[in-house]
Order: sequence, then structure tokens, then C-alpha cells
Amino acid sequence: MCGIVGYIGEKNATPIILNGLKKLEYRGYDSAGLAVLTNGHIEVRRDAGKLKNLEQLIMEMPVSGKMGIGHTRWATHGEPTARNAHPHLSSSGEVVVVHNGIVENFIELKEELLADGLKFQSDTDTETIVLLVEKYLKGVNDLETAVRKTLERLKGAHGIVVFSAKEPDKIIAARIGNAGGVVIGLGEGENYIASDIPAILEHTRKLIFLESRQMAIVTKEKIEVSTIEGKPLAPQISSVAWDPISAEKGEYRHFMQKEIHEQVRSLTDTLAGRVDFEEGRIRLPQLNLTAEQANDIQKIILTACGTASYAGMVGRILIERIARIPAMLEIASEFRYSDPIVDEKTTVLAISQSGETADTLAAMEEARKKGAKLWSIVNAIGSQAMRIADGYISMQTGPEIGVASTKAFTAPLVDLYMLAILLADLRGTITPEYRKQLVDDLRLVPELAGRCLDRESEVEETARLLKDTRDMLFLGRGINMPIAFEGALKLKEISYIHAEAYAAGEMKHGPIALIDKDMPVLAIAIKDPWYEKMISQIEQAKARGGIVVAVATEGDERVASLVDRVLWVPEVPWMLSPVITVIPLQILAYHIASLRGLDIDQPRNLAKSVTVE
Ligand code: M6R
Repeated sequence: MCGIVGYIGEKNATPIILNGLKKLEYRGYDSAGLAVLTNGHIEVRRDAGKLKNLEQLIMEMPVSGKMGIGHTRWATHGEPTARNAHPHLSSSGEVVVVHNGIVENFIELKEELLADGLKFQSDTDTETIVLLVEKYLKGVNDLETAVRKTLERLKGAHGIVVFSAKEPDKIIAARIGNAGGVVIGLGEGENYIASDIPAILEHTRKLIFLESRQMAIVTKEKIEVSTIEGKPLAPQISSVAWDPISAEKGEYRHFMQKEIHEQVRSLTDTLAGRVDFEEGRIRLPQLNLTAEQANDIQKIILTACGTASYAGMVGRILIERIARIPAMLEIASEFRYSDPIVDEKTTVLAISQSGETADTLAAMEEARKKGAKLWSIVNAIGSQAMRIADGYISMQTGPEIGVASTKAFTAPLVDLYMLAILLADLRGTITPEYRKQLVDDLRLVPELAGRCLDRESEVEETARLLKDTRDMLFLGRGINMPIAFEGALKLKEISYIHAEAYAAGEMKHGPIALIDKDMPVLAIAIKDPWYEKMISQIEQAKARGGIVVAVATEGDERVASLVDRVLWVPEVPWMLSPVITVIPLQILAYHIASLRGLDIDQPRNLAKSVTVE
């Protein structure tokens, strides 16, 4: 969950690393630090809290050099203090390391190192790594061998970057398991290292992604990739097309607000090249799916975490309704402990913005072990979930920086709808007329999303009404039930208001007891097949004195006459409605958090991609 940046070349590494860390601060903001090689020795600057504290420190105590590494931390072992901030130096000051992951055998290694007489200067597990390198250097005297020996000792998943003052021509980067990515960026007479592409995108588009148990020796002239055991590998160079501008905030106050507004474009982009409106057909070439394979599928298990899992809940409904294939959603963090019934006739579909979520990758690995076919819907290009799948759908939304996921929720909803149509088509279970109608409906989506965005100021007024509430209930039914969950999650994570979501029909089985004047209810009551049932639910809430805010279809006077406030959405075919109904809920959460003066892009305790289990 931490962010890592490294540079080696002829320029001053400090601003390059600081800039890169700025792009990665969403990955963790408990502390930040950097180490550069200056006149043959390593200088470290680090501080607790956000990157601006490190920037201030560097203004007071400038440091420069032609190679260096930096880190932004999401604390696991040891409090978020300056003493525990990365980079960590060896006791001699000769070697320095930054690390993403958890050293699972940290206690055992620490005892061994203490017994060897080495001293710890932090409470982190990471320090065992640099002290091990130091220990092995005494025997072998070359950094590469010492790092290999160290990596062999570590349990758990890791991304590690290390250099030594005694070997000033190289930085070593390694990846073990799924603690986040390690990517090497190729420049001219200079090279870059990062945990995530946005950190180095302004410098290069040519990238090498390290796989698990691979290591790279990076000098300014070349990159050598090998297995941790030392077998040389021919690195595969990929090119990425992400626009660095989309990783900037532009005119918006927060990335979240910008990303909410980007949805017209991101929904257009996710359709681009995949929808043939003439023929009424869907094309998803990166899925590598033949008619024979489609006919072979007996069950689809969707798996994901958090917001992505709510997209999966919608996807389950779409796949069953449109493709008539049995489908279920299993939360990724539970998947591998549930002894899932998975075989070669099962397809497991993982959904992940980052493509690096440890729980989701663990679910994919479990599915693979059991013989399932693996697909993924992923935003981060080149991420692990994209690479290990047999086929994938790219969200095509560009980087999402705000911790609260928005555009990377609506894009996979559309991807899942397209996937369901494609499966139905390949299996011959849909009439051409119905298929054409479903495909035609997609044409409307970006414009309808834009109409929701045009109503931002109305939603902001409702945010003023709700900003001081302590609790809130979100209700939905059918395909909009997952949207109630997503609306509640958005509110919780950025405004810290307690919010719970229910399948509206469940209210009468217990939760209705909670409703009084202090418990506002948000009900999604658009003109869909569950409309009448939602009206009853609203009436039951009103009868108990609750303040009700409804998401309703434009012009629906019946709902308007029943509730306290309405968040209007345009009329939309019900199977695509989640893409639209979620937008006012994203805007509502955003404005409530903004009115409460909170740190919207970096909410407390969270990180953008969760690479620990
Ligand atoms: O990168 P992923 O899509 O795999 O991330 C999954 C969740 O961690 C993520 O959706 C999380 O719930 C967001 N903070 C929600 O806004």
C-alpha cells in the first residue's frame, strides 16, 4: 500500500523523486522520505505525515544527488512516526532500502539480527531487510549477492528497492508476491523505478513490469532482469498510453470531484472500439473468448473488494439476466477461505481498479489452482490482475487518484453489461432484436451521466441538509441494491458518517426499528421493476418520522410528493440504471465531506490500493 520511486541518471534525483511521490501519495500518507547519494554517502530525509512535511524538511535541509529512492508509507509495523518512515539505512549507513509489504517472519529475523549484535533504529519490519543485506555483505562483498540472499530469507509479499554507497552505479529492485507492483521506466542515459506507473509517466512510457520473484539491476545505461535465484531473463518492454494530464487535478478542488466529472469521458472511452451499433454487437478482443469456450462455461464467480465488489453484485445480475449463466459474487477476502466449488467449467472474473489488491489476487490464485478460467476487469494497465488473467477487459478510464473510487466503478458496470451481451451472443441465447436493443441502449449512457452531473448544485443543497447527521440508511432493491451499498460506502469513507445499506425489502425484518427523525433514509426509487416496492418502503419510513431523500426519475411527482428531498436522475433502461443512480450518491458524499472540511482525496486510515491481506 506504500508508494515507491527511484531514479538513476544525470539529473538531480530529489525533485524527480518528490514529484513521483506526489503522484503516489494516494497509496499511503502516514509518512514520506527519500535517500540520495551525495558525494559518496547516503543522505536521508524523512518525516511523519504527508508529503508536504518532507518537502518542507528538504527546503530547510536541501539534498541532491544523481541517484536516489523515495517512499510514501501506509503504516503496518510501527507507528506513523519519522523514526519509522522509510527509507531505512543499515547501521553502517552504507545501504538503504524502501519497502512495500510485510515481512511475515519479522520477529524471527529480528531476534537473529539482535543476536548478531546489530541494532534497530525503528519499529518497522523493513529494517530487518536492510540489516540482513548488511549482514550478508560482510561475507560476499557485493550488493547483488547480498540482496539475493536476503530475499531468500523473507516470508510474505514484497516490493523492495535498495542501493549501496559502495556501489554507486546501480539500484536493485525486486518483487516477491503481490505487495503491489514494481515497474522499471526506461529513459535515455537514465532509468526510473516505481511501484505504480503514474509516478514516472511524465518521464517515460517504456516500461518493464517485474513479475513475482524477479529482480532488476538498474544502472543509468541498462536494466538486467533475472529471477531471484539468478537466472537471467529477457525483459519484455511495454508501452503505455496514459495521459499524464489525467493524473493532475486541473481546475477541480479534489481528484474525487474531477474523477466524478470525468465520467462522461470515461464512459465514452470504455465503449470505444467495443460496440458495433450497426450490427448490434459487442467486441472484447482482450478476453480471447471463442464461442466454444463461451458455451463451455457452467458458472461465473465474480470476485472483488469494496466498491469493485458492488460492481460485481450488479454484474452477477446482468450475467444471469442477459446471458442466463449461473453467476455469484464472492468477496475476494473470503474467497480462498470458503473452499469454493470451482473447476475447469467455472470462470472466475476478478474486478479491480488497481489490479494489485492483495485479496483479489489471492482469490485469483486460488481459482487458478482449482483449474478455473480467469478473467479480470482492470483499470491499471500492466497490473498483476491484468497479467495473470487468461483474458481481460480494460476499464479505459485513465488513472484514478482519489481514494474513493468513482469513475472506476461506473466503467466496469458498463464492461459487465457488454460482457453479458457478448456471452449471450456467443452462446446463441439472445435474439438479434433483443441484442440490438441492449446494444443501442449503451449509446445513451455517457449523455445521461452528463445530465446527472449538471444537477450537482441541487445535490449540494441536499448535502447541506445532511452534513451534520451522525447516521444514515441507504435502501435499494434489485439491480439498485448494490448502489445503496456503494452510496453508503462512499459516505462512510470520506465523510466518516456512519452509513448502512440494506436491501430495502429487509427493513421490515429488523432495521426499520432504527428509523426516527435522526436517521435519514436515502432510497433509490427510480422507474425500474422494483419501483412499486420502493414506494412502499418509502411510505413505511415516512410513517416512522424518518427524513427521506430519494433518487428518482425526472418528473416523478409521486415520489416527489412522498419524500423530503429528491435527487433527480434521467430516465434510463433499468439494466444500465446503476451507472446513473450512483452518480448523485457520489456527488452527495463528496459535498457532505467537503462541507465537513475533510481531506477528501486522502481519508484517514485508507490507501488507494490495498496490497496487504
Ligand atoms: O483496486 P481495487 O478496485 O481492487 O480496490 C478495491 C477496494 O479496495 C476499493 O474499491 C475501495 O473500497 C475504495 N476505497 C472504495 O472507494
